[in-house]
Amino acid sequence: MSIMLKSNASSSEADRLSDAELLGQMNVMVFAGLETTTAAVGRTLYMLVKHPDIQERLRALP
Ligand code: HEM
Repeated sequence: MSIMLKSNASSSEADRLSDAELLGQMNVMVFAGLETTTAAVGRTLYMLVKHPDIQERLRALP
């Protein structure tokens, strides 16, 4: 988001996003990033609980 804001600030007036458009982009980032990451972490932990042998192999990794 900070990259987007910095890039937008240094863009030409014709290319620059309005505040409402910036807010929309931030909404997408938060929405797309939150549920996917939660589901991925939750599913990974669930599978590791179901397969303690795999946990052991992961712990043994250097
Ligand atoms: C484990 C975590 C994540 C998974 C499994 C995941 C999965 C996906 C998938 C399958 C797509 C669609 C790709 C396509 O078909 O074009 C996608 C798109 C997208 N993801 Fe994620 N994502 C994850 C994390 C994140 C995070 C942390 C962010 C933002 C901080 C994010 C932002 C986006 C955005 C903005 C798109 C749309 C990209 C575009 O088409 O321009 N995602 N993600």
